[in-house]
Amino acid sequence: MRKWMLAVMPLAIGALTATAQVKKPATAKPAAKQTAGAATATIGRGKLLYKQYCMSCHQENGTGVPRMNPPLIKTEYVLGDKTRLIGILLNGLNEDVEIDGEYYSNPMPSQAALKDQEIADILSYVRNSFGNKASTVSAAEVTAVRATIK
Ligand code: HEC
Repeated sequence: MRKWMLAVMPLAIGALTATAQVKKPATAKPAAKQTAGAATATIGRGKLLYKQYCMSCHQENGTGVPRMNPPLIKTEYVLGDKTRLIGILLNGLNEDVEIDGEYYSNPMPSQAALKDQEIADILSYVRNSFGNKASTVSAAEVTAVRATIK
């Protein structure tokens, strides 16, 4: 074997093992961890969007404002049927709402200008904040509801 080959071989082997090491963790990652990661990501984005689009009325901790803007804490609207919840954001809401003995009748403006992914992020955040615990909402679920009201 020539001298230069001996010099190059360790480098080539080094490169090969380096690629192998980089590839391993990605393929070995369990599916459950990836799902948990996706949930954390959508909830994290939703927190920022909530501050921008919902907080002025529903307040930072989802408490709302008595007799003006209803709370988002463990209400049937937030924790219940996702289709109805997504519909409230797309259509707005203008009906008499009663939560914990308080009545609300100010109209909520439509948030339909938000992208499907943004609505999914916000609702995933709301459903997993303020003491709420419920499944996340996907962009595909928002797209499906939007298709029924256009
Ligand atoms: C301009 C004020 C305003 C903004 C902004 C607003 N809402 Fe509302 N929201 C209301 C009012 C008022 C109602 C009650 C409507 C009614 O009585 O028909 C309501 C009702 C709701 C309800 C159903 C009732 C409940 O408390 O569970 C949900 C869920 C909700 N809003 C979520 C959101 C989310 C999420 C955002 C941000 C994307 C948002 N709202 C932005 C004022 C607002």
